[in-house]
Amino acid sequence: VTIRRSVPSDREAIYRAIVETDLFRHSEIDVALEVLDDALAKGAEGHYQSYTAELGGEPVGWVCFGPTLGTVGTFDIYWIIVAPHLQARGVGKKLMRHAEGLIVRLGGRMIVVETSGLAAYKPTRRFYLKMDYHEEARLLDFYAPGDDKVVHIKRPAARAKPS
Ligand SMILES: CC(C)(COP(=O)(O)OP(=O)(O)OC[C@H]1O[C@@H](n2cnc3c(N)ncnc32)[C@H](O)[C@@H]1OP(=O)(O)O)[C@@H](O)C(=O)NCCC(=O)NCCS
Repeated sequence: VTIRRSVPSDREAIYRAIVETDLFRHSEIDVALEVLDDALAKGAEGHYQSYTAELGGEPVGWVCFGPTLGTVGTFDIYWIIVAPHLQARGVGKKLMRHAEGLIVRLGGRMIVVETSGLAAYKPTRRFYLKMDYHEEARLLDFYAPGDDKVVHIKRPAARAKPS
């Protein structure tokens, strides 16, 4: 698996991975595509930084991050997704570590990921915990009645300090 900046020809495969994951509402998929299209159009100069995991010439995963507007050194990882048939094989971890490395180089000191508290997202929350993003906050009923927003964070610079 190699990680490289996303290119327009990745769009179809990333879209397929998002749809086949079968977790996201139509409105969320629309937002993901808007973010992806903005990243593809603007590249390194844009707000959204988008990277693709490629295996055998095929896009199999996507991560998108950017600085959180109005903060000093906080970054959001907006999306991370791995094609369902290749999940749980280390691709997500590789994408996450790649994004973290770039964020640190850009001066990031806090990384935020947000997800849903619904049972269907338990594997996603476990993945974030495994990647050292602890649960920092929970906004009850944020997305919908009974659907909390769960905010996980990591402070990469703090971890990198010698003990
Ligand atoms: C969440 C997701 C990106 C993780 O990517 P992945 O390639 O499946 O995960 P990896 O194989 O890299 O797993 C990395 C670590 O997390 C752990 N992990 C992954 N899925 C897990 C699960 N369901 N339960 C427990 N641990 C899990 C792995 O065991 C691994 O730990 P290790 O490093 O000790 O071996 C991927 O499963 C996915 O696309 N899920 C659906 C979409 C989604 O929820 N995206 C995030 C919201 S935007």
